[in-house]
Amino acid sequence: MSTPTLTPPETAASEEASAAAQTIALEKEYVLQNYGRYPLVLRKGKGCYVFDTDGKRYLDLISGIGVNALGHAHPRIVKVIRDQAGVLIHTSNLYYNEFQGRLAKKLAEVSGLHRTFFCNSGTEAMECALKMIKAHGSKINPDKYEIVSIENSFHGRTIGAISVTGQPKYRKDFEPLLPGVKFIPANDVTALEQVVSERTAGILLEGIQGEGGIYPMTPDFVRKARELCDRFDALLVDDEIQCGVGRTGSYFAYQLLDPVVMPDIMTAAKPLACGIPLGVVVTNERAAQSIAPGMHGSTFGGGALACRVALEFFDILEGLLPSIHQVGGYFRMRLDELARKHSFIKEIRSTGLMIGVELTVPGKQLVLDAMAEGMLINCTHDVVLRFLPPYILTEKDVDRAVKILAKIFQKFKPEAAGTVVQH
Ligand SMILES: Cc1ncc(COP(=O)(O)O)c(C=O)c1O
Repeated sequence: MSTPTLTPPETAASEEASAAAQTIALEKEYVLQNYGRYPLVLRKGKGCYVFDTDGKRYLDLISGIGVNALGHAHPRIVKVIRDQAGVLIHTSNLYYNEFQGRLAKKLAEVSGLHRTFFCNSGTEAMECALKMIKAHGSKINPDKYEIVSIENSFHGRTIGAISVTGQPKYRKDFEPLLPGVKFIPANDVTALEQVVSERTAGILLEGIQGEGGIYPMTPDFVRKARELCDRFDALLVDDEIQCGVGRTGSYFAYQLLDPVVMPDIMTAAKPLACGIPLGVVVTNERAAQSIAPGMHGSTFGGGALACRVALEFFDILEGLLPSIHQVGGYFRMRLDELARKHSFIKEIRSTGLMIGVELTVPGKQLVLDAMAEGMLINCTHDVVLRFLPPYILTEKDVDRAVKILAKIFQKFKPEAAGTVVQH
């Protein structure tokens, strides 16, 4: 047997550094340049942590933008993926698989709605919801095609989804978009009453706006939207892609209202299959009737692997909901302490583990500073530090996060952070 050659540590480190540089260079040369990525190549993850190619560890408080709800390499998720990959991954929707119906039943139980359409992402779920709205309206009257959506909202990147996304920066390069979309300010009950009419086929909202900066809809506004949908035979769509599936400590954000205000259609995606792409549209019978055989479909949607993983996830999620609520509350308390010390923190908005820290200045530098200190967060709308941690986060993890935040806030120079962009 030959003696293994030992690589000196400094050589190993420089090889890793050049491997990371090569990865970045390849991406720059061959991948569509549609993302502004951070200069970080991630290799593996375990629990609430990820590791880069140098082995540096990061506390992951963004979890793939709210996807990795059980963190990384959760043993039960790894096990079902391994099992199912060796049995059956995909068959298309020409046939039944053993898990789609079971998952749809589970979604009906936890949502209070009834029927599910399966797809692969949030924006696809929104496309289906938009088709339902359109088909519902056109059955009643050809002029019933208007959709009311909310300013500052985000619903995805397809043409349909950007048509209803209330942020001009996502729409401006692709106009003209879907006709008949009307935007009103969030929580403006008067504007809502003025805009909804017989021509309205649907009202679209996020229970808590995510990408827009963690802004919850008020109970009065949601109630009025329900009432108007009932009065004008329109469909109420709740986009729970970021705020749903446990993120707030309840299954869905609309269930936080007392009494609950049921949407006709609810869309969800991100955490559903813990990183395996899966999106869903869950509807009541009234909305479901808008779609007949042949009107919509997906090759990949609802495959055996994704559905089985989602079933496993729901099995674990039930027991995690109280902890999401509790650890989210603890995180909020610790952030409030920091806010009292730093005047550049303007407001904190949070529900469960969906947390936004709004600053008076852009937060990009703080995201980079956090990364340097071994913690991944994100900044949305220029000024809102966004935390979407895994649901398995503990108070000990929060203490670690707060220690890092305290350090980077202490060093932060708001006057050098640039000026706030008006959206
Ligand atoms: C509320 C909301 N809707 C829709 C989407 C689009 O989802 P996806 O990126 O999976 O297409 C997102 C993504 O961030 C979202 O937050």
